[in-house]
Amino acid sequence: MTKRILIDTDPGIDDSLAILLALASPEVKLEGLTVVHGNCSAEQGTVNALSILELAKAEHIPVLTGCDLPLVQPSLLAPETHGGQGLGYASLPSPRNQARAGHAVDFLIEQIMSNPGEITLVAIGPLTNVAMALRLEPRIVQNVKEVVIMGGAIRHEGNTTPMAEFNTFVDPHAAHMVYHSGMPITLVPLDVTYQVVLNHADVDRLKGLPSGIPQFIEDATRFYMEFHDEYQQIDGCVINDPLALALTFAPELCNYEEQYVDVDINGGVSMGNTFADFYKALNQPANMKVALGIRPRQFLDLFLERMEQLSKRVGS
Ligand code: RIB
Ligand code: CA
Repeated sequence: MTKRILIDTDPGIDDSLAILLALASPEVKLEGLTVVHGNCSAEQGTVNALSILELAKAEHIPVLTGCDLPLVQPSLLAPETHGGQGLGYASLPSPRNQARAGHAVDFLIEQIMSNPGEITLVAIGPLTNVAMALRLEPRIVQNVKEVVIMGGAIRHEGNTTPMAEFNTFVDPHAAHMVYHSGMPITLVPLDVTYQVVLNHADVDRLKGLPSGIPQFIEDATRFYMEFHDEYQQIDGCVINDPLALALTFAPELCNYEEQYVDVDINGGVSMGNTFADFYKALNQPANMKVALGIRPRQFLDLFLERMEQLSKRVGS
């Protein structure tokens, strides 16, 4: 049964890999991309989303622009991680298409409410759009099929502050609203994504394949690998978002625990910190499924196989 998905995204280098993986995977039907601020501005992210879809000959998929600022916090973008245009060293032609008219938040609500129980929302950026949708139409809680969120760090250190992961730190108030919304959430935190490191040898596997996809991946991830080397002494790059996307059709890649998870919005050094109440000290019911174990090489091989298939399909 094909799973109908929406991706809320801040493309972004690893976001672009998640979008390509969705297009390469027959198990999912990508119904649309809603863009949010984060790795770059919502305006730049919209251009990037349109360009990535055209690269993969999927320009029929709607793209809508969403929120460009967090709910409360000041704007925080990530040019040092994703480059000034959000796609590292990759330079795609300006998109021929434009974003669909209307706001991304209204599109999320319309898609979920007109397809009750059908839509899986994959949120791989700051959760501002999703939080706004919750306030505009609280019934999405009952009508969304599931929500897969790339974000948080449970036992793992933060990647943006010592205690906070980027998507959660950029808009902690939105994360707090979404985590406590009652939606059926699967959280994909740094605990598992930091075990998924794409390296040069992996990228070299795509060399020589047809279409512009291999070169795009090489140019985008080269910048991302330089960042990981300089700031975190990692040989390769952590591809967070495609792992979250893969779990919509290959959940067996990870092991999960039902946990009560909260996010710190009190401010200060722990702003955006996410934690699970493993010992039930707060006596709260679990509010999500958390991916805490993973089979990294199994995922990386799946990702690369799908990129090979997509390159051959697009290039033919
Ligand atoms: O912390 C990693 C997350 O923040 C990823 O989604 C990355 O694209 C950035 O949005
Ligand atoms: Ca992202």
